[in-house]
Amino acid sequence: MTTAKERRPTTTDAGVPVASDEHSLSVGPDGPLLLQDHYLLEQMANFNRERIPERQPHAKGGGAFGTFEVTRDVSPFTRAAVFQPGARVEMLARFSTVAGERGSPDTWRDPRGFALKFYTPEGNLDIVGNNTPVFFVRDPMKFQHFIRSQKRRADNNLRDNDMQWDFWTLSPESAHQVTWLMGDRGIPRSWRHMNGYSSHTYMWINAAGERFWVKYHFKTDQGVDFLTQQDADRLAGEDADFHQRDLYQAIDGGNFPSWTLKMQIMPFDEAKTYRFNPFDLTKVWPHGDYPLHEVGRMTLNRNVEDYHTEIEQAAFEPNNLVAGTGLSPDKMLLARGFSYADAHRARLGVNYKQIPVNAPKVPVYSYAKDGAMRIRNASDPVYAPNSYGGPKADPALTDDGGLWQADGEMTRTAYTLRRDDDDFGQPGTLVREVLDDAARERLVGNIVGHLLKGVSEPVLVRAFEYWRNVDKNLGDAVEAGVRSSQRKA
Ligand code: NDP
Ligand code: HEM
Repeated sequence: MTTAKERRPTTTDAGVPVASDEHSLSVGPDGPLLLQDHYLLEQMANFNRERIPERQPHAKGGGAFGTFEVTRDVSPFTRAAVFQPGARVEMLARFSTVAGERGSPDTWRDPRGFALKFYTPEGNLDIVGNNTPVFFVRDPMKFQHFIRSQKRRADNNLRDNDMQWDFWTLSPESAHQVTWLMGDRGIPRSWRHMNGYSSHTYMWINAAGERFWVKYHFKTDQGVDFLTQQDADRLAGEDADFHQRDLYQAIDGGNFPSWTLKMQIMPFDEAKTYRFNPFDLTKVWPHGDYPLHEVGRMTLNRNVEDYHTEIEQAAFEPNNLVAGTGLSPDKMLLARGFSYADAHRARLGVNYKQIPVNAPKVPVYSYAKDGAMRIRNASDPVYAPNSYGGPKADPALTDDGGLWQADGEMTRTAYTLRRDDDDFGQPGTLVREVLDDAARERLVGNIVGHLLKGVSEPVLVRAFEYWRNVDKNLGDAVEAGVRSSQRKA
């Protein structure tokens, strides 16, 4: 893949030609090194600072640039320029596992991140989703605990299935996402063979100011495909970067993967009376109630040139929203509005939005000033209001305020329960009505295999009950599978 380039003289980072790529400066060939060998010092100092902190979750991943083009007219639902007929914008996608560290195998069973940045004419729009339409928890208070339970123990620094199942079985709202995870889609064949979902409900606003609740579905045009646990385990040893390699090679060979964006759209007022809370991230909106509306297609057609500057330093955040789009009362989404920018400031520095991959392709007229690694000049006046022609906020250009009503006593409750608000109904439907016999059998096999790896007896018993709550037959089959393997061992 590396092609020969025209030879140019090596320079220091200041552009000054250097004397040697191979030898440091010493007093005679056998003598001590000299402190004035500035180039040697620069080499060592830069090397020692090459690593930046990895992302807390979603550390292992890769991505590519592409284009998004609108194919249908959804202007009755949103005024966002990026979704108007004929629009075509550049974009970036990053796919990732959640729990593994930067060098961990791509084929571990885990949800996959599906993070998108659209460089729109109205500034950047980020949709930071996963390859599943639901999530493990519905309250952001539990997110940090959830992630810790999936990562490593404090004492032996090992991942621990007991810890994972302990958390899941004590958090029944996780059942829908765990059913997904243990099913075929828990290990995609490649990043090209998985769908992406906003998972959260967002808002769209049209030019007349009408509001809609929406969910984004990016359906793979390559077809959904998966790896069996056995194949994934083998590949984890043979090629830890299997998915990264697959994407890079496909694009390098001109085989550009694409996804069709389809939306579920709920009229604003229906949210008030829908049979379950439509903002609860542990639930999907059944297609029968809210069918998919096609919008456009994203195609990944350009590999990155420098993984570090374009992927490792990429900063996605769900609060990068453009006019015509907005958040919803989903508590997880609202908390993410704080968490990501905070993570980027900690990981990349306060001026992370000036890193080219994160910078919008429209002019920035912000009053931000100074800070570490700032590269864009601030200009006077540096305050507002001012009488010297500085930028002036125009509420007509945004939809970020006053979008829904909220009222009530302060409380710590994740949503008021409605008629169909339960934790096990939708995973039960998935098991009974979407999966076929072979997929159900693989689901049982995957769960049993996972439970047999170090899950303690009290947690095991809770796990059997958890699966019986999803589906009686499934729970019975899981218990029978675990007990019979234990007897044989
Ligand atoms: P539908 O029959 O209209 O949709 C079923 C959905 O299940 C399709 O989106 C399909 O995705 C997806 N699916 C197929 N195989 C699997 C699998 N092995 N693991 C996970 N998902 C799979 O039914 P409903 O909309 O009424 O939903 C029924 C259940 O399907 C839900 O409870 C939920 O678990 C699951 N589901 C629902 C989605 C939604 O947004 N409504 C989205 C995805 C899953 P595809 O078309 O891409 O093959
Ligand atoms: C990454 C927090 C829920 C998808 C991250 C990161 C943090 C975080 C801190 C690392 C960011 C970075 O350093 O670049 C949270 C919190 C959540 C939450 C607090 C809930 C309250 C979710 C959900 C989804 C999701 C529900 C999917 C629908 C992602 C993705 C990434 C990520 C895709 C990787 C982005 C990238 O590729 O750079 N999350 N997360 N997260 N999260 Fe979340």
